Amino acid sequence: MYKIVAKRELAKDINEYVIQAPLVAKNAKPGQFIILRVDKEGERVPFTICDMNKVLGTITILVQTIGASTAKLAFLGAGDSIEDFVGPLGNATDLTEYDKVMLVGGGIGGAVIYPQAKLLHRIGKSPVTVMGARNRSLLLYEEEMRNHSERFYPMTDDGSYGEKGFVTNKVKELLENEKFDAILAVGPLPMMEAVCKVSKDYEVKTIVSMNSIMVDGTGMCGCCRVTVGGKTLYACVDGPEFDGQLIDFAEAKARSKFYKDFEQDHFCRIRGTGPK
Ligand SMILES: Cc1cc2nc3c(=O)[nH]c(=O)nc-3n(C[C@H](O)[C@H](O)[C@H](O)COP(=O)(O)OP(=O)(O)OC[C@H]3O[C@@H](n4cnc5c(N)ncnc54)[C@H](O)[C@@H]3O)c2cc1C
Ligand code: FES
Repeated sequence: MYKIVAKRELAKDINEYVIQAPLVAKNAKPGQFIILRVDKEGERVPFTICDMNKVLGTITILVQTIGASTAKLAFLGAGDSIEDFVGPLGNATDLTEYDKVMLVGGGIGGAVIYPQAKLLHRIGKSPVTVMGARNRSLLLYEEEMRNHSERFYPMTDDGSYGEKGFVTNKVKELLENEKFDAILAVGPLPMMEAVCKVSKDYEVKTIVSMNSIMVDGTGMCGCCRVTVGGKTLYACVDGPEFDGQLIDFAEAKARSKFYKDFEQDHFCRIRGTGPK
């Protein structure tokens, strides 16, 4: 069992959990993820490692409640335990070789780029960060990202904070005026696709994180497959981060909706709002 040592509500339906998992914390690197099962009957659900404390043996994840497993997790609090917790999984992304990096986060992706900002800041290569959200209340980890960025640009769809507009507006403006060696964009698929379209014109390497639907997380089931440069790869073992210019986003978007109706029914039952 893996103990939740702290839980914080960051926004409506978005919670941060600090979990005691010393071995995972010891080995975790930016870009990697864990798979957990809330209870014995639970599905295996993947979450990006947003922070790790190797001394205390904890890792931090941010969870958006969107379906059955995340709803079950939302019922747990500090002191409760999680049944299974496997990681770190996937490949770490090393951005330290680049001199000037832009980090772009959308929605919950704004927080999962935090370990990269921390690492780059520590080695004296603080990134330029663009973070977007629908409104101010959904802009996550702002202080953490500000403190580890050379410059920080908040963007909101409704203009309630920072500049009004999509992250791509700011990405384009920055690329027009400065040279970047790499971009890491993490967020919803349409956002990552849009960033790649913009950065293509400026020939800047753009890495994206593919949050494909996963089952086993070991490369066996094929569920998380992504087409990258015409080749079939698996987000769990080959990713989750890939060269965004090579991703077949149309296929990825279609695959992400595969289980929508089935999952929605399950979600409603757990929240007590659906058919019994
Ligand atoms: C490598 C990786 C890292 C992730 N990191 C995070 C994270 O840090 N924080 C976070 O909140 N979520 C993250 N996710 C997504 C998270 O795993 C899903 O939200 C979760 O599995 C949903 O489980 P559920 O049972 O609550 O919802 P479900 O009932 O399974 O799904 C609800 C709805 O969301 C859709 N859905 C489910 N999983 C995904 C997915 N992976 N991508 C797109 N749509 C999906 C379903 O089709 C359905 O419409 C990550 C996914 C991957 C693969
Ligand atoms: S989750 Fe099964 S192959 Fe990746």
